[in-house]
Amino acid sequence: MQKKEQLYEGKAKKVFATECPELLIVQYKDDATAFNGLKKGTISGKGVINNQMSNRLMAMLECSGVPTHYVQELNDRETLVKKVSIVPLEVIVRNIAAGSFAKHYGVEEGVVFDQPTIEFSYKNDALGDPLLNTSHALALKLASEEEIEIIKVYAFRVNELLKAFWKSCGVTLVDFKLEFGRLADGTIVLADEISPDTSRLWDSETGEKLDKDRFRRDLGGVEEAYAEIMHRLEAHL
Ligand code: TMP
Ligand code: ASP
Repeated sequence: MQKKEQLYEGKAKKVFATECPELLIVQYKDDATAFNGLKKGTISGKGVINNQMSNRLMAMLECSGVPTHYVQELNDRETLVKKVSIVPLEVIVRNIAAGSFAKHYGVEEGVVFDQPTIEFSYKNDALGDPLLNTSHALALKLASEEEIEIIKVYAFRVNELLKAFWKSCGVTLVDFKLEFGRLADGTIVLADEISPDTSRLWDSETGEKLDKDRFRRDLGGVEEAYAEIMHRLEAHL
């Protein structure tokens, strides 16, 4: 598939048109940001890992009945995906208190929930991605009630599938962020990426962080953590 003009450049990826109007090419960069772009850096090799990891996980989810935008990996950093219009919601599922949840609600990191939680942020960098609930999302016409219902069902299903998969790799899935999009006919599919940039992944034995929190919190060993988590995935998928 021929890569045509660049349509968009985000913080971690570029998006290109193709000769087919319903397909796009996503290109993963090594650029890393945190705190709404305030902290900037590079994680060498991240783009390759995130591309390959996201594709394998999406293929696994697709096989288990969760529709995704994934079509075909083209090379180390580039993937062919279905064109979607992104639903401007960041959908966050949590199994264990960490990050902004721990901070907002005064809970220690590591407290395990009886049931997973779900929350939405309005995907809007200028506003700092504020948290919102379903009625806010409806008021802002970000999605319909039916779309939000299906997004919740898919998000919890993705959690069960990813939790089980990462457990088999000796990794605890703490939380993650998903984005969904609409195909031309309105079908909701999982889009964006699933990677150590968008998930918290802790070694099940030692609790060691194997995700982007190493970059966000200046913990060191960032590249090593990405390589380790990819190695775990490759050994089990
Ligand atoms: P949080 O605890 O900072 O709200 O993050 C929850 C999860 O969402 C965590 O796995 C990291 C991911 N995440 C993103 O993918 N993008 C973001 O912009 C933020 C803030 C978090
Ligand atoms: N999306 C966040 C940023 O702006 C990064 C993060 O914390 O994952 O820069």
